[in-house]
Amino acid sequence: MNKIDPNKLPRHIAIIMDGNGRWAKSHTFGRITGHKQGAKAVRVVVTACRKIGIDVLTLYAFSMENWFRPKEEVLSLMNLLKEYLEKEEDEMMEQGIRLTAVGKLDSLDKKVLEQLHNTMKKTSKNTKMVLNLALSYGGREEIAMAARHILMDGLSGKIKPGDINEQTVEQYLYTKDLPDPDLLIRTGGEWRISNFLLYQMAYTEFYFTKTLWPDFGEEELLEAITQFQRRERRFGRISEQLR
Ligand code: IPE
Ligand code: IPE
Ligand code: MG
Repeated sequence: MNKIDPNKLPRHIAIIMDGNGRWAKSHTFGRITGHKQGAKAVRVVVTACRKIGIDVLTLYAFSMENWFRPKEEVLSLMNLLKEYLEKEEDEMMEQGIRLTAVGKLDSLDKKVLEQLHNTMKKTSKNTKMVLNLALSYGGREEIAMAARHILMDGLSGKIKPGDINEQTVEQYLYTKDLPDPDLLIRTGGEWRISNFLLYQMAYTEFYFTKTLWPDFGEEELLEAITQFQRRERRFGRISEQLR
């Protein structure tokens, strides 16, 4: 904890929580057990981020493409999500965490959606940290959705083509109220972004690790933040311009 500089914290950390299935396989468990273990890691990392003082934590919990997994796995993931929200609501209240969600939420099962809305409503006044879940989320879907809504507002005369700039586009994304991620962590040893926050990660710093998600904890989170703090974010400039 004292390795990290409190004045140089990433404001927004995004995590691709990958490797539950392989974790289960390596322990000769079924995939669902891997997801259950993954939910425990979520608890640990959320609490750690809150303690460190991170403003926003976005967790990629279910992608658009994950709908194509075997039916039983999708169903279990949805049940686990609902269970997680039910169980963690009190803890979120205690820790001052506000829950938000991004993605094509209306594709979620009615019961899950209901629970999600309840938890979001209940935690809406909390101010210590935003826990943002990416659910039924796809970066390309998000951009297509934004384009659709921009066109609709254009047709109704609310905006003109000449007014559309980067800030306008941002206002139409699911993440409109959130800062861009400063740090992306992907566990599970894959070096790809799997359709996650494509627009928002233009200048995000990446940390990839082979650690499987259920094995990821506070120690490696601190390591990722330490590495982030050692990097120079130039945003196209040269070093000398940054001082
Ligand atoms: C990530 O773990 C969890 C979700 C995508 C919901 P995986 O289930 O992808 O685990 P691996 O990649 O098969 O190990
Ligand atoms: C990315 O993991 C999605 C989530 C962590 C929710 P996947 O395991 O689905 O990614 P790919 O398909 O292997 O790239
Ligand atoms: Mg995976």
